[in-house]
Amino acid sequence: MTLKYNEQAPPVPGGSAGITTREESHRTASTATSDSGKQSLPALEVQDVHASFRERRNKLSVLNGLSLTVEQGEFVAIVGPSGCGKSTLFHIIGGLLKPQTGLVLMNGQNVTGQRGKISYMPQQPALFPWRTIEDNVLLAGEVSAHTPPKAEALAEARKWLSSVGLGGFEQAYPHMLSGGMQQRVAFLRALLSPQELMLLDEPFSALDALTRSDMQRWLLDIWEQNRRSVLFITHNIEEALLLADRIYVLSNRPATVLHEVRVPFDRPRREEITEEKAFLERKRQISEWMKEEQKKARLTP
Ligand SMILES: Nc1ncnc2c1ncn2[C@@H]1O[C@H](COP(=O)(O)OP(=O)(O)OP(=O)(O)O)[C@@H](O)[C@H]1O
Ligand SMILES: [Mg+2]
Repeated sequence: MTLKYNEQAPPVPGGSAGITTREESHRTASTATSDSGKQSLPALEVQDVHASFRERRNKLSVLNGLSLTVEQGEFVAIVGPSGCGKSTLFHIIGGLLKPQTGLVLMNGQNVTGQRGKISYMPQQPALFPWRTIEDNVLLAGEVSAHTPPKAEALAEARKWLSSVGLGGFEQAYPHMLSGGMQQRVAFLRALLSPQELMLLDEPFSALDALTRSDMQRWLLDIWEQNRRSVLFITHNIEEALLLADRIYVLSNRPATVLHEVRVPFDRPRREEITEEKAFLERKRQISEWMKEEQKKARLTP
């Protein structure tokens, strides 16, 4: 399977419907300003990326001129129809796939096709079955250039495991854990990786509603203390609005950015915002956009 050149021209991004203002919310590298007043380059810029899979004579266009930005310390969510190309986009940002055209920049540097620049939690937890749970979490440090001493790393891993309800499972192997527990381990491994930019591909999708809500609260707390740059894929609009500073709404495949929504709620965020008018309005608007895309997909043969 190879990615081949995609000749389709990128479409013009969609309109605003009163909530989305690309002009207002899209800050470029030259305009972002850090707390110290110094101008800072975005943690991530994806510029006009086209990608398609080719198998024998068939070409499947997956990304169609997709561009997005994550500023330093910003939490950005991506929502889009199933199969539109979200995980493929992450594979491209992580350097696992090369796009036919377009660029991936981190801190202003062209890193298109380069691996090892991001901390990544894939959609499937992908734990190593022969390593214990704590050794799976420790892997984040082992593969990094700045490996902390083993005892220190172990104490840190155990502390985190217990904080996500996995105390007592340190010596267990992945097959002894439920899907949701495995997701929490994979999430910790990404969190403890040293790379500044985290890509999270539906990290909570296998969790029951209650655990999911706990994990959202937990992630929000950790993120508000550490302010890593995060790009987060989710199917859950409420989750996106609760966690993110900005949301990109993607089209059907081949995916492009249809809308960009700035989430205006103060931090630290309280769960009560989910009942506020501004929250519910945005939730309704994004659901409508998603429904429109689903309708279009049904009409396309
Ligand atoms: N390695 C591959 N070879 C061929 N086609 C692929 C490959 N990986 C993904 N695809 C196709 O590309 C399209 C986008 O897949 P992708 O996994 O990026 O979607 P997604 O938006 O992450 O979906 P979901 O929300 O269901 O996770 C799909 O049609 C999928 O079948
Ligand atoms: Mg996916």
